[in-house]
Amino acid sequence: MVIRVEAPSGGYDVTIENGIKDVASLLCAGRAEKIAVITDDNVRALYYNDLESRLTNAGYSVYCCTLQHGEASKNGYNYLNILEFLAERAFSRKDAVVALGGGVVGDIAGFAAATYMRGIGFIQIPTTLLSMTDSSVGGKTAIDLHSGKNLAGAFWQPLSVIIDTQTLKTLPDTEIKNGLGELIKYAVIEGGEILEMLEDGLEKHTESIIAAAVDIKRKIVEADEKESGLRRILNFGHTPAHAAEKLSGYAMPHGFAVAAGVNIIMNASAASCGCPAKDAARIKKLCEKYGLPTELPYTPEQLQNEAVHDKKAGGAFVDLVIARRIGKVECVRTEIGNLSGFYSGNGGKL
Ligand SMILES: NC(=O)c1ccc[n+]([C@@H]2O[C@H](COP(=O)([O-])OP(=O)(O)OC[C@H]3O[C@@H](n4cnc5c(N)ncnc54)[C@H](O)[C@@H]3O)[C@@H](O)[C@H]2O)c1
Repeated sequence: MVIRVEAPSGGYDVTIENGIKDVASLLCAGRAEKIAVITDDNVRALYYNDLESRLTNAGYSVYCCTLQHGEASKNGYNYLNILEFLAERAFSRKDAVVALGGGVVGDIAGFAAATYMRGIGFIQIPTTLLSMTDSSVGGKTAIDLHSGKNLAGAFWQPLSVIIDTQTLKTLPDTEIKNGLGELIKYAVIEGGEILEMLEDGLEKHTESIIAAAVDIKRKIVEADEKESGLRRILNFGHTPAHAAEKLSGYAMPHGFAVAAGVNIIMNASAASCGCPAKDAARIKKLCEKYGLPTELPYTPEQLQNEAVHDKKAGGAFVDLVIARRIGKVECVRTEIGNLSGFYSGNGGKL
């Protein structure tokens, strides 16, 4: 399956298949002679050798830069090291960077590609459910700063996104659930087929579910590449989720927090925004099917207090995404002081 994304700053194909053989022909790396593969230790052990031999056989000089797995690696120190890695090997503007791994590798490699010599080619080969359905498409790249996550970054669209769903076979169950949190968010945003397929089972419809998620992201990114409006709906469920992640000291995995956040917003939307209660019940059932949480261990007041620090909050206000029904979500600007009443279903006025 191939989905063409026509972002205003550049178009690219997203290829989704189970067992991709001819990776080299999908790179779209133009005149590149050198390829730097940025990966992490887990993914390197599983998938690098095969990729290296395919790219070498296709005539590229291939270099590998391996980070330690985990969010802590998405930092300024590693970012500068990647830039030095490219410079020491005399990478030029025509060469390219490949991100092989999850969203951590994709974000930092993308930011390095966006800024090395003011921008060189970048290819995403995502290997987690989250990176296949979310972070590899759309062109957001970033690193974390001490003051917060994703605070330095750039919009830099890839030349190509190559999704081999076979790599999901080695992905730990917790990481599958992490990706499912975001997929359930897409299911609320879009409704219809993606929701029905998720209800039927991820394993039965893996490629089609990933393709449906990529297609939703495609539509949103094509309309609003730099998040000045519509793209904000992708934050559905994220306002309570970000607060909960912070309150847990980031011990709560993002996808779990998003699943619970989606349920909180669905229930609150049912109480205050005309969303049918049966829609909220349907999403709760879907989360339960996959063993994802539907509640957070924090009070609405705690979640409200933490929202003050959300980077998407502007002063006393926050852009909150609410649901009118499954398949119809919208962004409303509201006072942060309204959040606790809204979350608890006590008629926070939105
Ligand atoms: N740029 C965007 O638009 C965007 C969107 C959402 C999230 N993100 C970012 O994505 C990051 C999270 O990404 P993630 O959830 O993919 O986490 P991750 O990159 O940390 O990967 C999760 C774990 O799975 C391992 N792994 C990866 N692929 C594997 C495989 N096939 N088999 C076995 N193990 C494998 C990794 O080594 C890691 O330990 C966060 O930093 C987040 O900010 C970015």
